[in-house]
Amino acid sequence: MNHGLLEKLKGLEVKLQDSYVQNMAATIDSENLILQVQRSPQATMDDFLFEVGHYLKLLRPGDPDAQPRKLLHVACGNGLYNLVFTAFYREIVNLDPVEEMLVHARRICRNLEGQTYVRDYGHNIGRHYPPHSFDDVFCIGIANIVADAADYFAILDAVSHVVKEGGRLVLGRIPDLAKRDPYLASLPAILAPKGFSRERIEQIVRDNRAVNWYAMEEITRFLKERGGICTIHPVNVQHIGHECMSDISVQF
Ligand SMILES: C[S@@+](CC[C@H](N)C(=O)[O-])C[C@H]1O[C@@H](n2cnc3c(N)ncnc32)[C@H](O)[C@@H]1O
Repeated sequence: MNHGLLEKLKGLEVKLQDSYVQNMAATIDSENLILQVQRSPQATMDDFLFEVGHYLKLLRPGDPDAQPRKLLHVACGNGLYNLVFTAFYREIVNLDPVEEMLVHARRICRNLEGQTYVRDYGHNIGRHYPPHSFDDVFCIGIANIVADAADYFAILDAVSHVVKEGGRLVLGRIPDLAKRDPYLASLPAILAPKGFSRERIEQIVRDNRAVNWYAMEEITRFLKERGGICTIHPVNVQHIGHECMSDISVQF
């Protein structure tokens, strides 16, 4: 357990869910880079590349040869996605409030050109860049970890201002309220054969129910008011828990 990181994650201005904080502090020292970004411990590099391909399609639908210039990567974590994104973007700005994450990102992306690192929260992006600064914005794995849904909407508001007209915002892994109950009902049948006790399963179901679940219509309405046209997509990965999430791509 990385206790320094644990304290830092607990002390963030934007509060994160306790389960995420504990999990991240426990895994950040691991050599498994995929695990460090909170994927399943079983995830392989093939799974990861499949996932990145899915997000590239959402960022560049029907136009794989287009060369957008500048990507904002919000909540970049260890920056692993950039190993692929770099082929499509001349510049990538990586934003994350946690220095440890940026240390990993700098290390993983050290041989890539055009990387910039900004230590700050998503809702503060306007302090660093004026409106319409980015061709595209990618923001994944944050809706499911902020403790207060209002903080997620503050990030959406801020990033919608920095995308250029004609640009795209891709939001990944949003817990989808419409999928919550079938997902929670499916957990005992998934976890019992793995040896989880009944008490533990009930606790996991309670913990999962307690996270922020978002009505997709609320997010799409919010972004429409900011000039975005949204499309909702199922999360296209195989990890347990991700089937209850959705992705949203937004055209500005
Ligand atoms: C679950 S990780 C996801 C990392 C990366 N997006 C991925 O999927 O590989 C969540 C990341 O969000 C960052 N984070 C936490 N609060 C944030 C905020 N308010 N704004 C932007 N990033 C935040 C954390 O430091 C962490 O790196």
